[in-house]
Amino acid sequence: MLIFLIGFMGSGKSYTGRNLAPLLGVEHIDLDHYLEQKENMSVKQIFEKKGEEHFRKLEKKYFHDLIPQQQLVISTGGGAPCFYDNMEVMNAKGLTIYLNRTKDFVIQHLLRGQHKRPLVASMTREQLENYYDELLEKRKHFYEKAKLQVGDADTEEIFRMIENAAF
Ligand code: S3P
Repeated sequence: MLIFLIGFMGSGKSYTGRNLAPLLGVEHIDLDHYLEQKENMSVKQIFEKKGEEHFRKLEKKYFHDLIPQQQLVISTGGGAPCFYDNMEVMNAKGLTIYLNRTKDFVIQHLLRGQHKRPLVASMTREQLENYYDELLEKRKHFYEKAKLQVGDADTEEIFRMIENAAF
Protein backbone atom coordinates (compact mmCIF):
# COMPACT_ATOMS: atom_id res chain seq x y z
CA MET A 1 0.00 0.00 0.00
CA LEU A 2 1.37 3.37 -1.05
CA ILE A 3 -0.22 6.28 0.80
CA PHE A 4 0.39 9.97 0.19
CA LEU A 5 -0.60 12.49 2.85
CA ILE A 6 -1.21 15.89 1.32
CA GLY A 7 -2.45 19.26 2.55
CA PHE A 8 -1.46 22.73 3.60
CA MET A 9 1.72 23.42 5.61
CA GLY A 10 0.94 22.85 9.28
CA SER A 11 -1.91 20.40 8.69
CA GLY A 12 -0.02 17.62 10.49
CA LYS A 13 1.12 15.49 7.54
CA SER A 14 4.42 14.52 9.17
CA TYR A 15 2.87 13.78 12.56
CA THR A 16 0.01 11.77 11.05
CA GLY A 17 2.33 9.85 8.72
CA ARG A 18 4.68 8.92 11.55
CA ASN A 19 1.80 7.50 13.59
CA LEU A 20 -0.21 5.99 10.74
CA ALA A 21 2.61 3.95 9.20
CA PRO A 22 3.08 1.59 12.19
CA LEU A 23 -0.68 0.98 12.35
CA LEU A 24 -0.54 -0.14 8.73
CA GLY A 25 2.72 -2.03 9.31
CA VAL A 26 4.64 -0.06 6.69
CA GLU A 27 7.54 2.40 6.66
CA HIS A 28 7.07 6.16 6.81
CA ILE A 29 9.01 8.71 4.81
CA ASP A 30 8.73 12.46 5.12
CA LEU A 31 9.49 13.84 1.67
CA ASP A 32 11.10 17.07 2.97
CA HIS A 33 13.38 15.14 5.37
CA TYR A 34 14.30 12.65 2.66
CA LEU A 35 15.18 15.51 0.31
CA GLU A 36 17.19 17.26 3.03
CA GLN A 37 19.21 14.13 3.72
CA LYS A 38 19.91 13.49 0.05
CA GLU A 39 20.91 17.11 -0.60
CA ASN A 40 22.63 17.55 2.74
CA MET A 41 20.88 20.92 3.09
CA SER A 42 17.73 22.05 4.88
CA VAL A 43 14.64 23.07 2.91
CA LYS A 44 15.21 26.57 4.26
CA GLN A 45 18.79 26.64 2.92
CA ILE A 46 17.69 25.31 -0.47
CA PHE A 47 15.05 28.06 -0.76
CA GLU A 48 17.56 30.71 0.30
CA LYS A 49 20.55 29.59 -1.77
CA LYS A 50 18.96 28.03 -4.84
CA GLY A 51 15.39 29.37 -4.96
CA GLU A 52 11.93 27.84 -4.98
CA GLU A 53 12.07 26.58 -8.58
CA HIS A 54 15.12 24.48 -7.79
CA PHE A 55 13.39 23.13 -4.68
CA ARG A 56 10.34 22.12 -6.73
CA LYS A 57 12.55 20.20 -9.17
CA LEU A 58 14.21 18.34 -6.30
CA GLU A 59 10.84 17.66 -4.70
CA LYS A 60 9.60 16.08 -7.93
CA LYS A 61 12.81 14.09 -8.42
CA TYR A 62 12.82 12.56 -4.93
CA PHE A 63 9.11 11.96 -4.92
CA HIS A 64 9.48 9.94 -8.12
CA ASP A 65 12.40 8.04 -6.55
CA LEU A 66 10.11 6.76 -3.80
CA ILE A 67 7.22 5.60 -5.95
CA PRO A 68 8.60 2.15 -6.83
CA GLN A 69 8.44 1.28 -3.11
CA GLN A 70 4.99 -0.18 -2.74
CA GLN A 71 4.70 -0.32 1.06
CA LEU A 72 5.06 3.21 2.29
CA VAL A 73 3.33 6.18 3.87
CA ILE A 74 4.74 9.38 2.38
CA SER A 75 4.14 12.75 4.04
CA THR A 76 4.54 15.27 1.24
CA GLY A 77 5.35 18.98 1.52
CA GLY A 78 2.39 21.35 1.24
CA GLY A 79 3.29 22.42 -2.28
CA ALA A 80 4.16 19.00 -3.70
CA PRO A 81 0.72 18.19 -5.18
CA CYS A 82 0.53 21.61 -6.83
CA PHE A 83 3.53 21.41 -9.19
CA TYR A 84 4.13 19.49 -12.41
CA ASP A 85 1.93 16.41 -12.69
CA ASN A 86 2.69 15.31 -9.13
CA MET A 87 -0.96 15.03 -8.07
CA GLU A 88 -1.89 12.90 -11.09
CA VAL A 89 1.09 10.64 -10.46
CA MET A 90 0.19 10.23 -6.78
CA ASN A 91 -3.41 9.38 -7.66
CA ALA A 92 -2.27 6.89 -10.28
CA LYS A 93 0.17 5.14 -7.96
CA GLY A 94 -1.49 5.12 -4.56
CA LEU A 95 -4.04 6.38 -2.10
CA THR A 96 -3.97 10.15 -1.66
CA ILE A 97 -5.34 11.53 1.60
CA TYR A 98 -6.03 15.24 1.99
CA LEU A 99 -5.73 16.48 5.57
CA ASN A 100 -8.26 19.28 5.24
CA ARG A 101 -7.86 20.87 8.68
CA THR A 102 -9.52 24.05 9.88
CA LYS A 103 -7.80 27.38 9.34
CA ASP A 104 -7.41 27.76 13.10
CA PHE A 105 -5.66 24.39 13.42
CA VAL A 106 -3.24 25.24 10.60
CA ILE A 107 -2.44 28.76 11.85
CA GLN A 108 -1.75 27.47 15.41
CA HIS A 109 0.65 24.87 14.05
CA LEU A 110 2.33 27.30 11.68
CA LEU A 111 2.93 29.82 14.45
CA ARG A 112 4.71 27.11 16.46
CA GLY A 113 7.08 25.90 13.72
CA GLN A 114 7.25 29.06 11.64
CA HIS A 115 11.04 29.45 11.54
CA LYS A 116 11.44 26.11 9.74
CA ARG A 117 9.17 27.11 6.87
CA PRO A 118 10.77 29.56 4.46
CA LEU A 119 7.50 30.62 2.83
CA VAL A 120 6.06 31.96 6.09
CA ALA A 121 9.11 32.44 8.32
CA SER A 122 8.90 36.19 8.85
CA MET A 123 5.12 36.74 8.84
CA THR A 124 2.96 38.21 11.58
CA ARG A 125 -0.19 36.30 12.50
CA GLU A 126 -2.29 38.64 10.38
CA GLN A 127 -0.01 38.22 7.36
CA LEU A 128 -0.06 34.49 7.90
CA GLU A 129 -3.85 34.40 7.91
CA ASN A 130 -4.05 36.39 4.68
CA TYR A 131 -1.37 34.25 3.08
CA TYR A 132 -3.25 31.10 4.10
CA ASP A 133 -6.47 32.37 2.48
CA GLU A 134 -4.73 33.31 -0.77
CA LEU A 135 -2.57 30.23 -1.08
CA LEU A 136 -5.32 27.80 -0.15
CA GLU A 137 -7.51 29.34 -2.83
CA LYS A 138 -4.79 28.58 -5.40
CA ARG A 139 -3.98 25.12 -4.07
CA LYS A 140 -7.27 23.63 -2.99
CA HIS A 141 -8.26 22.39 -6.43
CA PHE A 142 -5.11 20.25 -6.40
CA TYR A 143 -5.73 19.02 -2.87
CA GLU A 144 -9.36 18.26 -3.64
CA LYS A 145 -8.31 15.71 -6.24
CA ALA A 146 -7.33 13.41 -3.36
CA LYS A 147 -9.15 10.09 -3.17
CA LEU A 148 -9.89 10.58 0.52
CA GLN A 149 -10.45 13.82 2.41
CA VAL A 150 -10.33 14.00 6.17
CA GLY A 151 -11.30 17.01 8.28
CA ASP A 152 -10.29 16.86 11.91
CA ALA A 153 -9.98 13.04 12.06
CA ASP A 154 -7.11 11.78 14.20
CA THR A 155 -4.65 9.09 13.13
CA GLU A 156 -6.70 6.17 14.47
CA GLU A 157 -9.80 7.41 12.65
CA ILE A 158 -7.84 7.83 9.43
CA PHE A 159 -6.51 4.30 9.86
CA ARG A 160 -10.05 2.95 10.19
CA MET A 161 -11.19 4.92 7.13
CA ILE A 162 -8.38 3.33 5.10
CA GLU A 163 -9.25 -0.13 6.38
CA ASN A 164 -12.95 0.30 5.64
CA ALA A 165 -12.57 1.90 2.24
CA ALA A 166 -12.33 -0.21 -0.87
CA PHE A 167 -9.70 1.56 -2.93
C1 S3P B 1 5.95 24.09 1.40
C2 S3P B 1 5.70 23.27 2.48
C3 S3P B 1 6.76 22.70 3.31
C4 S3P B 1 8.06 22.54 2.50
C5 S3P B 1 8.43 23.84 1.87
C6 S3P B 1 7.34 24.39 0.95
C7 S3P B 1 4.81 24.62 0.61
O1 S3P B 1 6.38 21.44 3.84
O2 S3P B 1 7.92 21.54 1.54
O3 S3P B 1 8.72 24.74 2.90
O4 S3P B 1 5.02 25.07 -0.53
O5 S3P B 1 3.66 24.56 1.11
P1 S3P B 1 5.26 21.27 5.01
O6 S3P B 1 3.92 21.24 4.36
O7 S3P B 1 5.60 19.96 5.64
O8 S3P B 1 5.44 22.42 5.93
